[in-house]
Amino acid sequence: MAESGPDPLQQPLPDGVVPGDEIARTESGWLLIMLGLLGVMMGVVVVTGVTSALHPPSNVETIDPTTLHLGGEFAESNLGTAIEPDGSVTVRIIAQQYDFVPACVLVPAEIPVKFRLASADVIHGFLLAGTNVNTMIVPGFVSEVRTSFNTPGDYRMPCHEFCGFGHQAMWARVRVVPKEQFPNLSTRERTNCVQR
Ligand code: CUA
Repeated sequence: MAESGPDPLQQPLPDGVVPGDEIARTESGWLLIMLGLLGVMMGVVVVTGVTSALHPPSNVETIDPTTLHLGGEFAESNLGTAIEPDGSVTVRIIAQQYDFVPACVLVPAEIPVKFRLASADVIHGFLLAGTNVNTMIVPGFVSEVRTSFNTPGDYRMPCHEFCGFGHQAMWARVRVVPKEQFPNLSTRERTNCVQR
């Protein structure tokens, strides 16, 4: 078939129709912006992971939620704050509908603190605002988070996973005391600050 008239691709486009090369330019511009944003977000993940220990909890350790209280690590006498031989501190807490046991723990400032948490029933959450502590407590697993507190003070500790009708009332407290004061406290005072 013979060509009739000029090539339609060379004709001026009607109003409102954007030429193909301009579309390609715009698309690659936005592609670069998107890749840039991805790069920034990956950078934030890496930088906060390295500098502030903000990362997903990676501890995989199983425990039987039905026998938590009966013995072993999460027996009642083991709950609360314990001092390790190396001077660091381990806090053991059970989360259950609808409280944390113990409901308040004392920890020293400026000393590494390891939280070990277990649930006796459903999924709960554990969050200390302004710190890197933020984890779910899944029944059957021990959640472990490490942190240290720079200054003394009180942290309100809300359960942040919906766990039933009493969820909104499920609160506990972490009280950070000066590190010089901490060793002088009795075991009872270290594990119980509800009334103070
Ligand atoms: Cu426990 Cu919400």
